[in-house]
Amino acid sequence: MNRTIRTTEDVLVLLDRLFPPAESWWDRFYANRSADRPFFTPAPDENLVSYLDRGLLAPAPAPARALDLGCGPGRNAVHLASRGFEVDAVDLSSAAVAWAGERAREAGISTGLHFHRASIFEAELPHDTYDLVYDSGCLHHLPPHRRVSYLALLDRVLAPGGHFAVTAFAAGAMGSERPDEELYRLGELEGGLAYSPDELRSLFRDLTPVEVRPMAAQEPGSATFGLPFLLTALFRRPAGS
Ligand SMILES: C[S@@+](CC[C@H](N)C(=O)[O-])C[C@H]1O[C@@H](n2cnc3c(N)ncnc32)[C@H](O)[C@@H]1O
Repeated sequence: MNRTIRTTEDVLVLLDRLFPPAESWWDRFYANRSADRPFFTPAPDENLVSYLDRGLLAPAPAPARALDLGCGPGRNAVHLASRGFEVDAVDLSSAAVAWAGERAREAGISTGLHFHRASIFEAELPHDTYDLVYDSGCLHHLPPHRRVSYLALLDRVLAPGGHFAVTAFAAGAMGSERPDEELYRLGELEGGLAYSPDELRSLFRDLTPVEVRPMAAQEPGSATFGLPFLLTALFRRPAGS
């Protein structure tokens, strides 16, 4: 069959194929756990810890539920579970999910934390449920057309009044600044896309910005993780939307 496009999803899948497959790439990336990758640390993001410590994530009827998108080896998911959240954490890479499960066991977390090996766009997740949707470093690895799927996912799973937080390469500091269209001509994402504060505010314009700022650099070996070339943003979904 040559005429395969019928739905919007068919178009998105076709566009996916213009870029290298992500799953095998990430499995290879996680194969050597001793590699010098800053986010291989078990420490949670400094901005996430700060939101929790400052009470920015309004307490929901206990237990609050969190979804970690592209959880990798689970450092933020494990932290959220240790702070009392019921957590679903999703990652494309089976190597990442296996490592995350080991970390959860090492941290003594036996309930309330569920890892799913799946694309965030295919994972079976409950609707309107999560008080917090958290993404550290997944969005910037998605091709531009998948922002459409990402916004639809957020709309589906984030509870009214819930929070969404994202960490992405900061424009001017790290990541590709090529316009979306050029990325399709090039056929690659150049290691990840840079976002400016205005681009994040515009992309998530249906949500209310709470705090958009550079990540605060943390010393290696610190209890929290922070790199200055990342941008952090916290949004809230209006209660009635
Ligand atoms: C830079 S890593 C960040 C991992 C983790 N959030 C952390 O900060 O430690 C990006 C992660 O996103 C995952 N990822 C990329 N695209 C994905 C998709 N469509 N669905 C699920 N996970 C995805 C990758 O497998 C990878 O583990």
